[in-house]
Amino acid sequence: MIDIDKYFKPNLKQARKRTQADTEYKDFQLDERLQKFGVGKFYKIQTYGCQGNEADGETMGGILRDMGYQPTEDEAQADIILINTCAIRENAENRIWGELGRMKPLKRRNPDLLLGLCGCMAQEENVVNRVLEKYQHVDLIFGTHNIHLLPQYIETAHFNKERVIEVFSEEGNIVENLPKARQNPYKAWVNIMFGCDEFCTYCIVPYTRGKERSRSKEDIIEEVKELKALGYQEVTLLGQNVNAYGKDFKDQDYTFGDLLMDLDKIGIPRIRFTTSHPHDLDDKTIEAFRSCPSVMPHLHLPVQSGSNAVLKKMNRHYTRELYVDVIRKLREAKPDIALTTDIIVAFPTETEADFQMTLDLVKEIDFEGAYTFIFSKRAGTPAYSFEDNIPESEKKERLKRLIKLVNDGYLRASQKYMNQVVEVLVEGVSKQDERTLAGYSEHNKLVNFKGDKSLIGKIVKVKITQPRTWFLIGEACE
Ligand code: SAH
Ligand code: SF4
Ligand code: F3S
Repeated sequence: MIDIDKYFKPNLKQARKRTQADTEYKDFQLDERLQKFGVGKFYKIQTYGCQGNEADGETMGGILRDMGYQPTEDEAQADIILINTCAIRENAENRIWGELGRMKPLKRRNPDLLLGLCGCMAQEENVVNRVLEKYQHVDLIFGTHNIHLLPQYIETAHFNKERVIEVFSEEGNIVENLPKARQNPYKAWVNIMFGCDEFCTYCIVPYTRGKERSRSKEDIIEEVKELKALGYQEVTLLGQNVNAYGKDFKDQDYTFGDLLMDLDKIGIPRIRFTTSHPHDLDDKTIEAFRSCPSVMPHLHLPVQSGSNAVLKKMNRHYTRELYVDVIRKLREAKPDIALTTDIIVAFPTETEADFQMTLDLVKEIDFEGAYTFIFSKRAGTPAYSFEDNIPESEKKERLKRLIKLVNDGYLRASQKYMNQVVEVLVEGVSKQDERTLAGYSEHNKLVNFKGDKSLIGKIVKVKITQPRTWFLIGEACE
């Protein structure tokens, strides 16, 4: 029997705590001793989940690169493999268990391989216990709060030949000066805040990511200026609830709308952001859509449900009426704004009448797209113990009906762009055809058009000639 209690393991109850403690800001520095540790070695990072996790994956890549490691896609070549996990729904977790099982033989073939589990699943005690008991081939477990300690963990695991398990269930601090191996040469993620204090009753994120804490505006502005100087065309500002940006500043009154206006002045062509919360979306942010040319006319604003009773049980802090009103104000400020959303169906106690209200709301707002999910129980969250009274078949049926409606919206939205000239940031060639270029419009629509590869990385005017459900086809304007 192994003694699994000797490790530094997570605790979801502890992670729920919020105090008035100040956020600590520190700078990352790579120990000189470890700067050549990875020379001649290869790393592979497998990232799942949201953009926040993708950004973390790029940070881990940056740290490994600074240690001398090179990236590889080939598992057999890798000296270290990190699985950067997501805990948002059960099926997200099941995929990871499958991956961990699949990787067992890799370790048998290469006993020196370091296999690490990180990201949001690593913050869950049931996950860590299960890995310790049943997945002995995992060498390294660390959480979302201690990515910056990766070099030390690698060193310990390598020299001591023992498992390194360290997960903190703290409120969270901010580490600056972290290196990044950015995956896209034209579009960059920029974290503006971390954590979440919303505690929607279904959601694990406030437990896995800690309290809401904002990066300083100076650090964010500096990062965007640097990205512009490097030739990046687009930044996406990241946070679980970007509209709460700055609320934790004790000595200044500076909010998300102010940040958008300051970033707009830098002159980077495109600014996007995700994710917004309806109850925190203020007039200044709406004003930024109207007055800032670089703020792109697309907003992802998760609504989750159209029923006030369900919204209340979800602890969303707004009503359907407030949501509709925010959308009205947004459309007044920016009439062509593209709106997308997230919806959960079959939340515990959701009745057919509640669900119908969600369908009605989808019709009323006329979303250009939506991510739709069946409610998934997460251990440690309040909704875990809500009575789940909806039969499985009914859940699937509701999801199907919602998806049908949402897909009609996608097509209608695409058709709006017929004969319009849109601006496309060209990212590469289409998956289907080498001679077709692909990129996203201002409204975040995928656009394909014929053109020369030299246009990759540029913003090109394209006239839409064939709108399809999932993408638009067009012709480059001279
Ligand atoms: N911070 C963002 C994103 C959270 S996760 C936000 O507040 O919108 C992305 C989406 O996953 C959520 O909007 C929600 O629709 C969905 N989601 C979160 N927890 C879930 C759960 N337990 N079951 C089903 N869907 C969930
Ligand atoms: Fe989860 Fe709600 Fe926070 Fe979004 S706002 S991360 S859904 S708790
Ligand atoms: Fe998943 Fe964690 Fe993001 S649970 S959605 S990776 S914050």
